[in-house]
Amino acid sequence: MTDTYTRLVSKGLGKDVAQRLGLPQPAVLRRYEPGQALVNGPVLVQGSTAGADELAATLLSWNLDVRRHAVPREKLGAIILVLDALAAPEDLEKPVLAVAFSLRDLGPSARFVTLSRPAGETGNPAGAAARQGVDGLVRSLAKELRAGATANGILLADGVTTTSPSALAALRFFLSGRSAFVDGQFLTVSTGEGTLPGDAEKPLAGKVAAVTGAARGIGAAIARTLHRDGATLILVDIPAAGDHLASVANEVHGTALQLDISREDAGKRILEHAVQRHGRLDIMVHNAGITRDKLLANMDHARWNSVLNINIAAQLRINEALLASEHFSTSPRIVSVASTSGIAGNRGQTNYAASKGGVMGMVRASAPLLAARGGSINAVAPGFIETDMTARIPFAVREVGRRLNALQQGGLPTDVAEAIAFLASDAAGGINGDILRVCGQNLVGA
Ligand code: NAI
Repeated sequence: MTDTYTRLVSKGLGKDVAQRLGLPQPAVLRRYEPGQALVNGPVLVQGSTAGADELAATLLSWNLDVRRHAVPREKLGAIILVLDALAAPEDLEKPVLAVAFSLRDLGPSARFVTLSRPAGETGNPAGAAARQGVDGLVRSLAKELRAGATANGILLADGVTTTSPSALAALRFFLSGRSAFVDGQFLTVSTGEGTLPGDAEKPLAGKVAAVTGAARGIGAAIARTLHRDGATLILVDIPAAGDHLASVANEVHGTALQLDISREDAGKRILEHAVQRHGRLDIMVHNAGITRDKLLANMDHARWNSVLNINIAAQLRINEALLASEHFSTSPRIVSVASTSGIAGNRGQTNYAASKGGVMGMVRASAPLLAARGGSINAVAPGFIETDMTARIPFAVREVGRRLNALQQGGLPTDVAEAIAFLASDAAGGINGDILRVCGQNLVGA
């Protein structure tokens, strides 16, 4: 499923020619497959705090090949830099430069992950400067790494330790092939909630999940991934997509619900379907979305309203119905699909970007409501993903869109689906109100 250009330049003559001409040389990314090792080689844990020691001990208990000091010229699967007790910018020098020379030893699709604290409003300018410095460091390093290697960070709220359940879950996600197209990004672990992540191949076993827009593209990939991870599925899409919906439902042994999510009673209909068949709903994935692009100067009411209604108003109405129901799980999880257009903006997409910005605002504001019920709500913001939608973009524009990120390629629907499956899991329960970009570190709005 890698694009033709990436396949051409990844080996042999194509690689030589691309190198000589200075053309982009995207790597074939290591994506998750069941049974795959968490990382491809030894893991260097750098940092001298108690948090670093505890984390290294936990990684040893996962049977990883852990190093506390670099072994010269040893190929590494990952570097984990623990910076959980920074007090001032000077504190960065020693640990950061200690790992610098090991970067050359990172293998293909290796991982660099930091654990640090959010800058927040500490009332401590020097501490905040050091903490925010990690943000710039990780985002820059992500642009320096090559061969499919990524750099990401985990922000631990005060009181959350390096071995809190969701800190470990986020670390596993970033180390694994599940985060292949996530680069230069941060996940914030805001509480000690969540269950300890394990080796379980079916982290969603026993969960009932509804996915909207599941007949094709990213939605169908989400359905397949949640099914692989053990969830029981309800697949929602418009009646016109009924045939495709039925075939995806057959494939993942789920049930199809033909429903336009912009109907006023959509939330009620989804709940009724779930309760009749399974007695409850645990996970709601809001994926359905549309574009009706026009410059704002030429925008009409129909284009504006249809996009805002389907992409955000429907999600708000469905969430309201779910939260009012006793059948929406004891640890409810909602994951919404936003877009990098809602962060960086995109010419011709004022309506779409307003709706996707709206999704992110809704997610942040709903976090306390879900927390009060022992649940969580988060969003994934995809960048350029290879789907029917992006295949229709004219070739030259598509090539630019797909290469303008640190990994120099478009993502696959499965990359978005992996992030959603992670955020829908109980192990990620300490992550609430967060937005995770799956965009290969898109250079626009990065
Ligand atoms: P797609 O157009 O291939 O699939 C969307 C699905 O949603 C279709 O099956 C469609 O029938 C369904 N749908 C549309 N309106 C509906 C309604 N009113 N009720 C129920 N179902 C409805 O789109 P794709 O590319 O798979 O996108 C999925 C999500 O990801 C969307 O929210 C999109 O905005 C978002 N996204 C996609 C990106 C990409 O590069 N493909 C980038 C960023 C975000």
